[in-house]
Amino acid sequence: AAPLRLGIAGLGTVGVGVLKMIQKNAALITQRTGRAVTVSAVCAQSRGKDRGVDLSGYAWEDDPVVLAKRDDVDVFVELIGGSTGPAKQATQAAIAAGKDVITANKAMLAEHGHSLALSAEAAGRVIRYEAAVAGGIPVVKALTEGLAGNEIQRVLGVMNGSCNYILTRMEDAGMTYEEVFAEADGLGYLEADPNLDVGGIDAAHKLAILAAIAFGTEVDFASVVIEGIGAITIEDIHAAADMGYRVKLLGVAQQTGRGLEQRMTPCLVPANSPLGQLQGGTNMVILEGGDVGQIVLRGAGAGEGPTASAVMSDVVDLARGLRLNTFGQAATGLVKSQPAMTATT
Ligand code: HSE
Repeated sequence: AAPLRLGIAGLGTVGVGVLKMIQKNAALITQRTGRAVTVSAVCAQSRGKDRGVDLSGYAWEDDPVVLAKRDDVDVFVELIGGSTGPAKQATQAAIAAGKDVITANKAMLAEHGHSLALSAEAAGRVIRYEAAVAGGIPVVKALTEGLAGNEIQRVLGVMNGSCNYILTRMEDAGMTYEEVFAEADGLGYLEADPNLDVGGIDAAHKLAILAAIAFGTEVDFASVVIEGIGAITIEDIHAAADMGYRVKLLGVAQQTGRGLEQRMTPCLVPANSPLGQLQGGTNMVILEGGDVGQIVLRGAGAGEGPTASAVMSDVVDLARGLRLNTFGQAATGLVKSQPAMTATT
């Protein structure tokens, strides 16, 4: 079979991880899909930078929109980030040029996922985004494939590793929020705009995406009730611990009699529960289905290997010809969510 040819835009941590996986696992991918996966061209901001990966076999483009439209690209892989700007322009250009898209861009999907899914559907293309939610945890596929026969009742979990790192470090090392924040920033754990992490916005993006899949609604980020961890003090952590609880930035999405409830807020969870035991920069997503019961998924929510692993699962699906539109088989059939009237006390 003809190779599946990728164009990769964005060579940060994730893009480099994807190239390494393609180079390392080439034989395995061909064995599993019956065809080769190749990279035609890549694109990033600075060409000269040493990224620790061999780029010599790939054409270079300076402009992601140009990359997205290349004739030798079947799938546009968007790893630039940001809800608007080049990431969105290039994604739209790729769809218009008849390419499928793989993206890790939670912000873009949370803000524009429905309109992008509609354009893709109209063009007969798909947008895949396993890497956009909870890094290496295959939660999008768990919902769309593994649990596809269930009515989903609730989706909850810890979806931002940086916040979990800060909260567990405050607890274990007795450090203040400000001290751990500075440490996490120094270690490169935080987004370029740290408020996306500690303000709960990054995690809320992920929750809104999962809620849309779970409940068959349009992505509705605007209705997520969001409260970050910036006001959590060491005294709060100690008071919680004295009562046998831990503080987690917890996301919950569920259909209620009052509509779709989506919350991403600091919560007390029992210290000895799976959520309470979650340490460091890890993520945990809990899925509850009418027939399957409760599924607990835990793993790395960020980082080179885990996030690249999620991108590659979409690459392998497309190489196998599995062109599922994961926001629902038809984006045109999705209903607007009825946001719950939530008291934010
Ligand atoms: N800043 C995010 C986190 C990265 O800490 O989880 C992955 O989206």
